[in-house]
Amino acid sequence: MRILVTGGDGMLAQAIRNLCPAYPFEIVFCNKYELDITNLIAVERYFQNSGFGCIINCAAYTNVEAAESNVEAAYLINETGTKNLAIIASKYKIPLIHISTDAVYDGDKKHAYSESDACNPLSIYSKSKFAGELAIQEPGTNGIIIRTSWLYSLDKANFVTAILKKARSAGKLSVVFDQLGTPTYTYDLGLAILDIIKKNFDYINTGMNIYHYSNEGAISWYDFAVNCCRIAGVNAAITPVFSTEYPTKVERPFHAIMSKAKIKNDFNLSIPYWRDSLEKCLADKNKLENF
Ligand SMILES: NC(=O)c1ccc[n+]([C@@H]2O[C@H](COP(=O)([O-])OP(=O)(O)OC[C@H]3O[C@@H](n4cnc5c(N)ncnc54)[C@H](OP(=O)(O)O)[C@@H]3O)[C@@H](O)[C@H]2O)c1
Repeated sequence: MRILVTGGDGMLAQAIRNLCPAYPFEIVFCNKYELDITNLIAVERYFQNSGFGCIINCAAYTNVEAAESNVEAAYLINETGTKNLAIIASKYKIPLIHISTDAVYDGDKKHAYSESDACNPLSIYSKSKFAGELAIQEPGTNGIIIRTSWLYSLDKANFVTAILKKARSAGKLSVVFDQLGTPTYTYDLGLAILDIIKKNFDYINTGMNIYHYSNEGAISWYDFAVNCCRIAGVNAAITPVFSTEYPTKVERPFHAIMSKAKIKNDFNLSIPYWRDSLEKCLADKNKLENF
């Protein structure tokens, strides 16, 4: 089967690129210059005679801070772009696998969120991502929406790489401890996506369903930073601080912990614990040298 991955230069796409040789798929990765998902005509033209059997949408406006002042761009990519892919997926009767975020929840719930819980996104980024989810839940569009959280790898810049760089260069840093969530190693999510397509293609090509995927467990950003440095062997003084001591214009959920029972049950997946995956990621000494 031929699969299109949009946002082909992104962090999740990079993990899928590295994982795909082990799968019986021909995967075409398109960056935004090769395929701008906000341009429906370009997307339609790209699909003519392409023979794609599935779309994995890794394209997104992901700069959470910048989205606050670039509202139009965030919605154009995260809502309109996503909708364009759904139009094409629906036309060719193929499933769309779309990636969304835990930040569609406001984080006020004391227990883990399930997919049927009410959404109340707080920031422009998360509102635009939620708008994208709503835009593709139309009759005739098949596929899955996977809400994920705190993505990291050593392929692209992210929280883990930023912490390691800062710890090495400054030797000390402050990290918030009152926001809880779950890290997700992009390679675990990438494997889950490819396995789902391989083993459950007919199921995901029947209606549109929402799932959660992150690693198992829950921690604060502070715990995450401390573990990054310990596992990577970087010495740094890390101070836990309240979110109020680290002012930002972005409102984030305080307790965005998601239950993964549905994705595990429906697709018979086992999900690694966050620390095991972090250790696996940081064991790549060649990549680690860059940070
Ligand atoms: N990173 C996280 O912690 C996190 C957490 C929860 C959910 N997610 C979601 O997971 C997905 C993958 O995230 P990621 O971290 O891999 O994101 P990423 O590294 O920022 O990749 C997104 C890619 O989409 C590209 N893009 C932007 N506009 C486009 C357009 N109009 N057409 C085609 N491509 C376009 C970006 O290019 P440029 O960078 O050149 O603009 C970038 O290469 C996204 O849907 C994101 O919202 C991420």
